[in-house]
Amino acid sequence: MISFIVHGGAWDIPDEMLDAHYQGVKNALEIGWHILSNGGSGVDAVEKAIRYLEDDPTFDAGRGSFVNALGEIELDASIMNGTSFRCGAIASVQNIRNPISLARLIMDKSEHVLITGMGAVRFALENGMQQCKSDDLLVGRELQRWKDLQGKSTFSTKDAFKKKLPSDTVGAIALDKNGIIVSGTSTGGTPNKYPGRVGDSPLIGCGTYADSSVGGVSCTGWGEAIIKVALAKTIVDQMEINGDDPEVAAKIGIDRLQKKADGFGGVIVLNKNGVPAVAFNTPRMARAYRTSEMTTDIVVV
Ligand code: GLY
Repeated sequence: MISFIVHGGAWDIPDEMLDAHYQGVKNALEIGWHILSNGGSGVDAVEKAIRYLEDDPTFDAGRGSFVNALGEIELDASIMNGTSFRCGAIASVQNIRNPISLARLIMDKSEHVLITGMGAVRFALENGMQQCKSDDLLVGRELQRWKDLQGKSTFSTKDAFKKKLPSDTVGAIALDKNGIIVSGTSTGGTPNKYPGRVGDSPLIGCGTYADSSVGGVSCTGWGEAIIKVALAKTIVDQMEINGDDPEVAAKIGIDRLQKKADGFGGVIVLNKNGVPAVAFNTPRMARAYRTSEMTTDIVVV
Protein backbone atom coordinates (compact mmCIF):
# COMPACT_ATOMS: atom_id res chain seq x y z
CA MET A 1 0.00 0.00 0.00
CA ILE A 2 1.17 3.50 -0.86
CA SER A 3 -0.93 6.56 -0.19
CA PHE A 4 -0.75 10.32 -0.65
CA ILE A 5 -2.96 13.21 0.48
CA VAL A 6 -2.57 16.98 0.13
CA HIS A 7 -4.49 20.06 1.27
CA GLY A 8 -4.64 23.68 0.17
CA GLY A 9 -6.42 25.34 3.09
CA ALA A 10 -9.83 25.34 4.79
CA TRP A 11 -12.01 28.46 4.69
CA ASP A 12 -14.93 29.99 2.84
CA ILE A 13 -13.18 29.61 -0.53
CA PRO A 14 -15.18 31.83 -2.90
CA ASP A 15 -16.66 30.40 -6.11
CA GLU A 16 -14.28 32.37 -8.31
CA MET A 17 -11.27 30.78 -6.57
CA LEU A 18 -12.52 27.19 -6.69
CA ASP A 19 -10.83 26.29 -9.99
CA ALA A 20 -7.42 27.56 -8.86
CA HIS A 21 -7.66 25.60 -5.61
CA TYR A 22 -8.88 22.49 -7.42
CA GLN A 23 -6.07 22.60 -9.97
CA GLY A 24 -3.47 23.36 -7.30
CA VAL A 25 -4.23 20.37 -5.07
CA LYS A 26 -4.79 18.11 -8.12
CA ASN A 27 -1.36 18.96 -9.56
CA ALA A 28 0.35 18.63 -6.18
CA LEU A 29 -1.24 15.18 -5.75
CA GLU A 30 0.05 14.11 -9.17
CA ILE A 31 3.58 15.24 -8.30
CA GLY A 32 3.63 13.31 -5.04
CA TRP A 33 1.91 10.28 -6.51
CA HIS A 34 4.38 10.09 -9.42
CA ILE A 35 7.26 9.96 -6.93
CA LEU A 36 5.65 7.36 -4.66
CA SER A 37 4.39 5.12 -7.46
CA ASN A 38 7.89 5.02 -8.97
CA GLY A 39 9.30 3.77 -5.68
CA GLY A 40 10.40 7.19 -4.38
CA SER A 41 10.46 8.21 -0.74
CA GLY A 42 7.67 9.83 1.24
CA VAL A 43 10.04 12.66 2.14
CA ASP A 44 10.60 13.46 -1.55
CA ALA A 45 6.88 13.19 -2.34
CA VAL A 46 5.86 15.53 0.49
CA GLU A 47 8.64 18.05 -0.21
CA LYS A 48 8.03 18.21 -3.98
CA ALA A 49 4.23 18.43 -3.69
CA ILE A 50 4.48 21.23 -1.12
CA ARG A 51 7.08 23.05 -3.23
CA TYR A 52 4.54 23.06 -6.04
CA LEU A 53 1.86 24.54 -3.76
CA GLU A 54 4.35 27.13 -2.44
CA ASP A 55 5.09 28.23 -6.02
CA ASP A 56 1.38 28.45 -6.87
CA PRO A 57 0.27 32.00 -5.89
CA THR A 58 -3.23 30.74 -5.10
CA PHE A 59 -2.11 29.60 -1.65
CA ASP A 60 -0.84 31.25 1.54
CA ALA A 61 2.56 29.57 1.37
CA GLY A 62 5.74 30.65 -0.40
CA ARG A 63 4.70 32.93 -3.28
CA GLY A 64 1.24 34.36 -2.53
CA SER A 65 1.70 34.45 1.25
CA PHE A 66 -0.02 36.94 3.54
CA VAL A 67 1.91 40.08 4.48
CA ASN A 68 2.71 40.93 8.12
CA ALA A 69 1.99 44.23 9.90
CA LEU A 70 5.34 45.66 8.75
CA GLY A 71 4.68 44.79 5.12
CA GLU A 72 7.05 41.80 5.18
CA ILE A 73 6.48 38.15 4.32
CA GLU A 74 7.50 35.71 7.08
CA LEU A 75 7.22 32.02 6.37
CA ASP A 76 6.75 28.91 8.56
CA ALA A 77 7.12 25.25 7.54
CA SER A 78 7.81 21.80 8.96
CA ILE A 79 8.35 18.20 7.88
CA MET A 80 8.50 14.99 9.93
CA ASN A 81 9.58 11.42 9.14
CA GLY A 82 7.39 9.11 11.24
CA THR A 83 9.89 6.25 11.27
CA SER A 84 13.19 7.96 12.13
CA PHE A 85 11.29 10.63 14.11
CA ARG A 86 13.60 13.15 12.48
CA CYS A 87 11.97 16.48 11.81
CA GLY A 88 12.89 19.93 10.57
CA ALA A 89 11.09 23.25 10.84
CA ILE A 90 11.53 26.96 10.22
CA ALA A 91 9.59 29.92 11.58
CA SER A 92 9.44 33.65 10.74
CA VAL A 93 11.84 33.25 7.84
CA GLN A 94 12.09 35.87 5.09
CA ASN A 95 13.33 35.66 1.49
CA ILE A 96 13.23 31.89 1.12
CA ARG A 97 11.28 30.75 -1.94
CA ASN A 98 10.55 27.21 -0.78
CA PRO A 99 10.32 27.03 3.03
CA ILE A 100 9.52 23.29 2.97
CA SER A 101 12.90 22.59 1.36
CA LEU A 102 14.67 24.55 4.09
CA ALA A 103 12.69 22.60 6.71
CA ARG A 104 13.86 19.41 5.00
CA LEU A 105 17.46 20.66 4.95
CA ILE A 106 17.24 21.15 8.72
CA MET A 107 15.77 17.65 9.12
CA ASP A 108 18.53 16.13 6.98
CA LYS A 109 21.55 18.14 8.08
CA SER A 110 20.97 19.74 11.47
CA GLU A 111 20.81 18.31 14.97
CA HIS A 112 18.03 20.84 15.70
CA VAL A 113 14.30 20.64 14.99
CA LEU A 114 13.23 24.28 14.65
CA ILE A 115 15.35 27.26 13.56
CA THR A 116 13.84 30.75 13.33
CA GLY A 117 14.42 33.97 11.40
CA MET A 118 17.96 34.97 10.48
CA GLY A 119 19.35 31.74 11.94
CA ALA A 120 17.35 29.73 9.44
CA VAL A 121 18.48 31.97 6.59
CA ARG A 122 22.07 31.56 7.75
CA PHE A 123 21.63 27.77 7.76
CA ALA A 124 20.16 27.93 4.24
CA LEU A 125 23.07 29.98 2.89
CA GLU A 126 25.67 27.76 4.59
CA ASN A 127 24.12 24.79 2.84
CA GLY A 128 23.96 26.30 -0.64
CA MET A 129 20.34 27.46 -0.69
CA GLN A 130 19.85 30.90 -2.28
CA GLN A 131 17.72 33.73 -0.88
CA CYS A 132 14.99 35.19 -3.10
CA LYS A 133 13.75 38.78 -3.31
CA SER A 134 10.70 39.83 -1.28
CA ASP A 135 9.00 40.61 -4.59
CA ASP A 136 9.40 36.97 -5.63
CA LEU A 137 6.97 36.06 -2.82
CA LEU A 138 4.61 39.05 -2.94
CA VAL A 139 1.51 39.02 -5.16
CA GLY A 140 -0.82 41.96 -5.91
CA ARG A 141 -3.78 40.35 -4.14
CA GLU A 142 -1.89 40.21 -0.84
CA LEU A 143 -0.37 43.68 -1.19
CA GLN A 144 -3.88 45.05 -1.65
CA ARG A 145 -5.19 43.05 1.35
CA TRP A 146 -2.36 44.44 3.48
CA LYS A 147 -3.09 48.01 2.38
CA ASP A 148 -6.79 47.53 3.16
CA LEU A 149 -5.97 46.27 6.68
CA GLN A 150 -3.70 49.18 7.68
CA GLY A 151 -5.21 51.43 10.31
CA LYS A 152 -7.86 48.88 11.28
CA SER A 153 -6.86 48.63 14.93
CA THR A 154 -9.72 46.31 15.80
CA PHE A 155 -8.62 43.61 13.35
CA SER A 156 -7.42 40.34 14.89
CA THR A 157 -6.59 36.97 13.42
CA LYS A 158 -9.43 35.47 15.44
CA ASP A 159 -11.87 37.84 13.78
CA ALA A 160 -10.34 36.92 10.46
CA PHE A 161 -11.09 33.26 10.94
CA LYS A 162 -14.54 33.88 12.39
CA LYS A 163 -15.32 35.92 9.33
CA LYS A 164 -13.89 33.12 7.21
CA LEU A 165 -11.08 35.14 5.70
CA PRO A 166 -8.52 33.15 3.72
CA SER A 167 -6.67 30.31 5.39
CA ASP A 168 -4.67 28.77 2.57
CA THR A 169 -1.92 26.93 4.45
CA VAL A 170 -0.79 23.87 2.46
CA GLY A 171 0.26 20.39 3.53
CA ALA A 172 0.83 16.78 2.48
CA ILE A 173 1.17 13.29 3.99
CA ALA A 174 2.71 10.23 2.32
CA LEU A 175 2.87 6.53 3.09
CA ASP A 176 5.71 5.17 0.96
CA LYS A 177 6.56 1.63 -0.14
CA ASN A 178 8.77 1.17 2.94
CA GLY A 179 5.85 1.89 5.27
CA ILE A 180 7.23 5.30 6.23
CA ILE A 181 4.68 8.04 7.00
CA VAL A 182 5.89 11.59 6.29
CA SER A 183 3.90 14.77 7.03
CA GLY A 184 4.67 18.36 6.02
CA THR A 185 3.02 21.78 6.25
CA SER A 186 3.90 25.26 4.91
CA THR A 187 2.31 28.68 5.43
CA GLY A 188 2.67 32.43 5.26
CA GLY A 189 0.66 32.62 8.51
CA THR A 190 -2.21 35.04 9.01
CA PRO A 191 -2.99 38.40 7.34
CA ASN A 192 -1.29 41.43 8.93
CA LYS A 193 0.23 39.22 11.66
CA TYR A 194 2.46 40.74 14.32
CA PRO A 195 6.10 40.51 13.18
CA GLY A 196 7.64 37.33 14.57
CA ARG A 197 4.26 35.70 15.20
CA VAL A 198 4.51 31.92 14.81
CA GLY A 199 1.49 29.74 14.07
CA ASP A 200 0.92 26.00 14.31
CA SER A 201 2.48 24.99 10.99
CA PRO A 202 6.16 24.83 12.07
CA LEU A 203 5.37 23.33 15.48
CA ILE A 204 5.74 19.56 15.57
CA GLY A 205 2.63 18.10 17.23
CA CYS A 206 0.52 21.19 16.44
CA GLY A 207 0.43 21.70 12.64
CA THR A 208 2.37 18.57 11.65
CA TYR A 209 2.94 15.11 13.11
CA ALA A 210 3.94 11.66 11.84
CA ASP A 211 4.41 8.31 13.55
CA SER A 212 4.66 5.43 11.09
CA SER A 213 3.30 3.00 13.70
CA VAL A 214 0.09 5.07 13.95
CA GLY A 215 -0.33 7.68 11.19
CA GLY A 216 0.25 11.29 10.12
CA VAL A 217 -1.55 14.65 10.21
CA SER A 218 -1.22 18.10 8.59
CA CYS A 219 -3.42 21.00 9.74
CA THR A 220 -4.70 24.30 8.39
CA GLY A 221 -6.70 27.05 10.06
CA TRP A 222 -6.39 29.47 12.94
CA GLY A 223 -2.95 28.69 14.31
CA GLU A 224 -3.40 30.16 17.79
CA ALA A 225 -6.31 27.75 18.41
CA ILE A 226 -4.59 24.77 16.77
CA ILE A 227 -1.55 25.24 19.04
CA LYS A 228 -3.74 25.24 22.16
CA VAL A 229 -5.10 21.76 21.44
CA ALA A 230 -1.86 20.37 19.91
CA LEU A 231 -4.12 19.28 17.09
CA ALA A 232 -1.85 17.04 14.99
CA LYS A 233 -0.57 14.97 17.93
CA THR A 234 -4.06 14.86 19.45
CA ILE A 235 -5.38 13.22 16.28
CA VAL A 236 -2.50 10.72 16.10
CA ASP A 237 -3.12 9.84 19.76
CA GLN A 238 -6.82 9.35 19.02
CA MET A 239 -5.95 6.92 16.21
CA GLU A 240 -3.71 4.98 18.57
CA ILE A 241 -6.54 4.76 21.10
CA ASN A 242 -9.33 3.93 18.64
CA GLY A 243 -7.59 1.20 16.65
CA ASP A 244 -6.49 3.15 13.56
CA ASP A 245 -9.74 4.86 12.51
CA PRO A 246 -8.53 8.12 10.87
CA GLU A 247 -12.01 9.51 10.25
CA VAL A 248 -13.15 9.28 13.86
CA ALA A 249 -9.80 10.70 15.05
CA ALA A 250 -9.97 13.63 12.61
CA LYS A 251 -13.52 14.45 13.71
CA ILE A 252 -12.61 14.32 17.40
CA GLY A 253 -9.69 16.65 16.69
CA ILE A 254 -11.82 19.26 14.90
CA ASP A 255 -14.54 19.02 17.58
CA ARG A 256 -11.89 19.63 20.24
CA LEU A 257 -10.49 22.58 18.26
CA GLN A 258 -13.90 24.21 18.17
CA LYS A 259 -15.11 23.35 21.69
CA LYS A 260 -11.93 24.00 23.66
CA ALA A 261 -10.25 26.78 21.66
CA ASP A 262 -13.10 28.28 19.62
CA GLY A 263 -11.00 27.50 16.55
CA PHE A 264 -11.64 26.99 12.86
CA GLY A 265 -9.69 24.87 10.44
CA GLY A 266 -9.20 21.55 8.76
CA VAL A 267 -6.99 18.46 8.87
CA ILE A 268 -5.82 15.75 6.53
CA VAL A 269 -4.96 12.38 8.07
CA LEU A 270 -3.44 9.06 6.97
CA ASN A 271 -3.45 6.07 9.26
CA LYS A 272 -0.50 3.65 9.31
CA ASN A 273 -2.14 1.58 6.54
CA GLY A 274 -2.52 4.64 4.31
CA VAL A 275 -6.28 5.04 4.82
CA PRO A 276 -7.05 8.77 4.35
CA ALA A 277 -9.48 11.05 6.19
CA VAL A 278 -10.38 14.73 6.15
CA ALA A 279 -12.27 16.86 8.68
CA PHE A 280 -12.97 20.62 8.81
CA ASN A 281 -15.40 23.07 10.39
CA THR A 282 -15.10 25.73 7.68
CA PRO A 283 -17.43 26.00 4.67
CA ARG A 284 -14.84 24.49 2.29
CA MET A 285 -11.48 22.72 2.30
CA ALA A 286 -9.25 22.04 -0.74
CA ARG A 287 -7.87 18.50 -0.69
CA ALA A 288 -6.87 15.61 -2.94
CA TYR A 289 -5.81 12.02 -2.29
CA ARG A 290 -5.02 8.69 -3.82
CA THR A 291 -4.07 5.26 -2.52
CA SER A 292 -2.80 2.20 -4.38
CA GLU A 293 -6.21 0.63 -3.78
CA MET A 294 -8.00 3.39 -5.74
CA THR A 295 -8.30 3.66 -9.52
CA THR A 296 -8.87 7.45 -9.65
CA ASP A 297 -7.85 10.50 -7.65
CA ILE A 298 -10.28 12.18 -5.27
CA VAL A 299 -10.04 15.97 -5.67
CA VAL A 300 -12.53 18.17 -3.77
CA VAL A 301 -12.82 21.83 -2.86
N1 GLY B 1 -2.38 27.64 10.27
C1 GLY B 1 -1.46 28.61 9.84
C2 GLY B 1 -1.24 29.70 10.81
O1 GLY B 1 -2.08 30.00 11.63
O2 GLY B 1 -0.16 30.28 10.76
